[in-house]
Order: sequence, then structure tokens, then C-alpha cells
Amino acid sequence: MDDQRRLRNALGEFATGVVVVTAKGASGELAGMTMNSFSAVSLDPPLVLFSIGRQAHSLQAFRSSGHVAINVLASDQEALSNQFARPLTDKWAGVDYTPGLGGAPLLKGALAHFECAPHAEFDGGDHIIFVVRVARFSARPGAHDPLLFLRGRYRRVRNDWQMEADWPLAIHY
Ligand SMILES: Cc1cc2nc3c(=O)[nH]c(=O)nc-3n(C[C@H](O)[C@H](O)[C@H](O)COP(=O)(O)O)c2cc1C
Repeated sequence: MDDQRRLRNALGEFATGVVVVTAKGASGELAGMTMNSFSAVSLDPPLVLFSIGRQAHSLQAFRSSGHVAINVLASDQEALSNQFARPLTDKWAGVDYTPGLGGAPLLKGALAHFECAPHAEFDGGDHIIFVVRVARFSARPGAHDPLLFLRGRYRRVRNDWQMEADWPLAIHY
């Protein structure tokens, strides 16, 4: 197995959720991409990040848009995740959304929406790291399970086992 494949496999041991990041580009076109590089960064100011491959067709739309929306997918939104993971094709056919800040689409049925303004961009090798500032958000905590991604596959939460942890945890975070 070559080194890149081994690295991909090793990285795949890190379980994540799945988001669709959306935007309305400067010329009015809608962009949407499935991503699992989303991460919380800072509470004060409220910052989050995601990274976009330099070869992505939607990159220009994301760079030219004022705002982006990060839509956290629920476990029954696997088809939507696949729809937004395909290059170019009409990703928006049959997609239910309402326009958020800057026209960035808020996908119906998502567990949480983060509407964000640009903050900083960093070189991330074959990706570009976007740090964005949360301007508005909404969530339905516990309303539905999240869609998960692990070892190159979608997964679901198993609710028959829970860590017994008292918040806030005694460890420093
Ligand atoms: C679960 C999952 C996670 C993904 N995460 C990312 C990501 O974090 N960054 C990225 O650039 N592409 C990611 N992709 C691939 C993009 O979704 C895909 O290449 C993109 O939609 C192509 O868009 P384009 O039409 O702009 O080229 C992911 C795909 C899947 C299925």
C-alpha cells in the first residue's frame, strides 16, 4: 500500500460528523460541498474552520461570497451528503432550503446551521483552510441523531451505550 493510501486510512480512524457548506457566489450562483473538515475553533470571538480542496469547482464561489452557511447533517440525510459530494452536477435539484445571511442556503432538516462571515484564509497544502466567524446560528439539540463518518463510511450513533461523564469534565479543555 502506498504512503498516501496508508495516511488516508490512518486519518480515517478519526470519527467526524458531516456538514454541507453552502454559499451564494458573487454572480448569484449557489455552491454547496459536503465536508468533514469542519471544526470548532474559538468561542470568543466565535470562530470555526473547514478546508476546501484547491481543485474544487466551487472554490471560487466560496471565496467570492460574503457569507457561508454550515449545515450539520442528520443521520437521515445521507442522500443529501452524497448529492453535495459530487463534482459540478446540478447539486441543487430537489433540495429544500431557505436563504440565510448573504443568501447562503440553510438546508431543511439539518441539526444545526452556522451562518458565518469570512475571517481568515490559510495555506493548507492541496486545501485552503477557511476560518469563519459565526454571525448567527440555530440548533435542535437532541432532536435527531447526527450523520457520522468513520473509516471512509457513513455511520450512525448507537444509543445503547453512553459514557458516564459529568459536565463540566474535570479535565482541561
Ligand atoms: C464525507 C465527506 C467529507 C468530505 N470532506 C471534504 C472536505 O472537508 N473538503 C473538501 O474539499 N472536500 C471534501 N469532500 C469532497 C467534496 O464533497 C467533493 O469533492 C465536492 O463536493 C466536489 O465539489 P465541486 O463541485 O465544487 O468540485 C468530502 C466528501 C465526503 C463524502
